[in-house]
Amino acid sequence: MTQKEQLNSNIPHHIAIIMDGNGRWAKKKGLLRAIGHENGAKGVQEAVEACTEIGVKYLTLYAFSTENWNRPKREVDALMKLLVNSLKKEVASLQKNNIKLNAIGNLDALPEKVKNELLYVIDQTKDNTQITVTLALSYGSREELIKTVKDISIKVKNNLISPHLINETVISEHLYTKNLPDVDLLIRTSGEQRISNFLLWQIAYAELYFTKILWPDFRKTDLFEAVLNYQQRERRFGKTSEQLS
Ligand code: IPE
Ligand code: IPE
Ligand code: MG
Repeated sequence: MTQKEQLNSNIPHHIAIIMDGNGRWAKKKGLLRAIGHENGAKGVQEAVEACTEIGVKYLTLYAFSTENWNRPKREVDALMKLLVNSLKKEVASLQKNNIKLNAIGNLDALPEKVKNELLYVIDQTKDNTQITVTLALSYGSREELIKTVKDISIKVKNNLISPHLINETVISEHLYTKNLPDVDLLIRTSGEQRISNFLLWQIAYAELYFTKILWPDFRKTDLFEAVLNYQQRERRFGKTSEQLS
């Protein structure tokens, strides 16, 4: 039986991926880091296809963090250029496969060209229904939480929200992820076992899965393997095992 055939009906609704290891992949081959990023596009394609095949409804991909702005300008420029080119190249296939594109993060920090192309593709694909693929771009969880606190504070000041009514729902509704469900499965490639400022609020009860595969080498079977592993876990949400059965 293939991994895909071994999967049961408990498919995670929302998978998030920290796509890491492009630089090391390139270095191992004696290539420039930018070439590693270019080959990372293969991983994206495989992850999206795999999720579509098994019926995952939300896939969120960490593509560029707020901290990544501190990389050498040459690398940041190469990444931004790659983004525009990929968006241009992929729009037709997103349409064909009924994929809705979405983005989270401080999009105003992106170069005009990237932001415009991104908003264009989001608008073009807004009625698609098979899966929502969210790119986290210039995204940092702490920046998101600061923005959320500011937005809620302004509403409190203008008497639009009263402080004692602030609850989890109010906070969730002010995050960039307001239209997304909580993450069920978080995958990180490249062997690192850390979160790197990704979706801190939204992964409160996610299952974490770490693999040594470098992102450009990530294939559909790797995603199926992660889901198989997820299906062997018991998500207790604070309860006892007996309460669940
Ligand atoms: C992930 O790969 C892509 C981005 C962070 C933009 P890296 O560029 O972090 O690759 P490593 O971790 O240096 O191998
Ligand atoms: C996290 O990877 C960000 C993305 C994958 C976009 P990093 O490579 O930036 O994370 P650290 O610096 O190793 O924690
Ligand atoms: Mg990295």
